[in-house]
Amino acid sequence: MRLLALALLLLAGCDNMVRQPRYDAYGEAPLFPDGKALQVPPDGTIARDAPQWAAAAQRPALTPALLARGQERYAIYCTMCHGLDGSGDGTVTARGFPRPADFREPEQKALGSGRIFQAISDGRGTMYGFSDRVSAPDRWAIAAYVEALQRTGRP
Ligand code: HEC
Repeated sequence: MRLLALALLLLAGCDNMVRQPRYDAYGEAPLFPDGKALQVPPDGTIARDAPQWAAAAQRPALTPALLARGQERYAIYCTMCHGLDGSGDGTVTARGFPRPADFREPEQKALGSGRIFQAISDGRGTMYGFSDRVSAPDRWAIAAYVEALQRTGRP
């Protein structure tokens, strides 16, 4: 009898994962002071279609200063995987991380700065995105530098 009670007690702890506690968007949430699950976005939040983003999506003019900035940022954020010359032999790949393609391969050369900017921003495959740690102007500078690497074939 005691064993049966124990078995019932243990079974009661089992639940299927379909039923889990969650808040509905327009439901109540005692956690917040106003009691609503749907909270007002914090000050400074920018809508996805706001003009600020459009400005960030503009490619800046190609200048020696932009390329110099790109070269410096590339060395900081990209060389460990892509290598100084963009061949994909960074130190991280020697330790088992998937090796990226050589930037000087025809397929990579065909990307163009827009696609490169996008890859830096959002990431690609195993490569993480950098939009949370590298500003949009710097991502453009890096993209311009990668294109320069592709054209000259050397750092
Ligand atoms: C942690 C390693 C790592 C770092 C750091 C890294 N990448 Fe990558 N990158 C990769 C790998 C791996 C791929 C191939 C991704 C795939 O196809 O799965 C890749 C792909 C790319 C591509 C090709 C995208 C495409 O559409 O084919 C570009 C361009 C690129 N990286 C640029 C950069 C730049 C610029 C930086 C620095 C801001 C950077 N990466 C930092 C590992 C890295």
